[in-house]
Amino acid sequence: MPADTVAAPPSFIPVFEPMLNGRELEYVRDCLESNWISSIGKYITRFEETFSRYCGARHGVSCSSGTTALHLALEALEIGPGDEVIVPSFTLVVSASTVCMAGATPVLVDVQPDTWCIDPDLIEEKITPRTRAIMVVHMYGHPADMNAIMNIARRYNLKVIEDCAEAHGALCHGQKVGSIGDVAAFSFYGNKIITTGEGGMVVTSDDRVAERAQLLRNQAFSAERFVHHEVGYNYRMTNVQAAIGLAQCEQLEQRLAKRIEIARTYSELLAGEDAVSLPYEAEWAKNVYWMYGLLINESFGRTRDELRQALEERGVDTRSFFYPLNRQPVFQGQHRRWPDLRCECPIADDLGKRGLYLPSGYSLTPDLQEEVVRRLLDCKR
Ligand SMILES: Cc1ncc(COP(=O)(O)O)c(C=O)c1O
Repeated sequence: MPADTVAAPPSFIPVFEPMLNGRELEYVRDCLESNWISSIGKYITRFEETFSRYCGARHGVSCSSGTTALHLALEALEIGPGDEVIVPSFTLVVSASTVCMAGATPVLVDVQPDTWCIDPDLIEEKITPRTRAIMVVHMYGHPADMNAIMNIARRYNLKVIEDCAEAHGALCHGQKVGSIGDVAAFSFYGNKIITTGEGGMVVTSDDRVAERAQLLRNQAFSAERFVHHEVGYNYRMTNVQAAIGLAQCEQLEQRLAKRIEIARTYSELLAGEDAVSLPYEAEWAKNVYWMYGLLINESFGRTRDELRQALEERGVDTRSFFYPLNRQPVFQGQHRRWPDLRCECPIADDLGKRGLYLPSGYSLTPDLQEEVVRRLLDCKR
């Protein structure tokens, strides 16, 4: 292409794509050449040690997904039938479904309109004698207000589970998420800040919780190999996945810097545009902007869903925000097995209707972001 030719913007801009440009291939090749492809191997240990140290916690227990990490965290804390766990109403379904998988009951609390995380001011009224834990979700990269939440947890003697699936490296009052509560769950799905394809990790500084998570992810095999004192699961990660994870860990800081740069560029491009509300960063927080989320205001002239459709026609891939748990069909009291979670959660309802996230992948350039914003504002009425 001649030097003065400007490349045309791509016709399709994906919402996210994994980036595998470190030592992933070298480490995976090592697994294949050495024949260590299953769930034992040096990369498992190295990935667990490297990632948990990065989080500031003593133990990392790798597993097959963020969902299984949450389930293991709950069961490692011995939460089960008869127990209640407080969860935010605005989140992926797994926050409630893993509590159900453990045999306990989720209790919903609405979220804050700015951080989009659980609202600490609404937690206490939902605590009962059966409450055992609070599960917080650090939403789209912004940490929940852990100081307030840990205060409540201490006063009521509750455990705190941090869902860090979307917030690797985020800070709350200078402390890394994943090291503040009793136990944390991370996801390494393909669209996460670092990925292993599929995968997850339980992170904790509690020796007993780590030991139980290790036991339960591996069928609860006892020292007498085929004798079982508990029911466990096969939630193991493979050495090949851990090899990818280790390579990704080596680039974590650069990745976070890129996420923050993407967010800054969008925020600059959209500054002063009152048809949309931009994501927030509390003064006590470091938001790592897993995805760049927006709320579509009435003055935009289109609903969120109409806008998503219009953007799709213009080649811009977006995702709508989570569907609130209080509205999930499975939790409307119609199902024999699953609880009735209907309750008033006006903020979750509003976010679920008006929120979407823009392309946020690692390959975005400022020019491409400008193009996204141009196509977005083109849809205004
Ligand atoms: C907030 C949250 N929790 C948990 C998960 C579950 O992770 P996984 O898809 O690895 O099971 C996700 C995944 O997208 C998530 O966004």
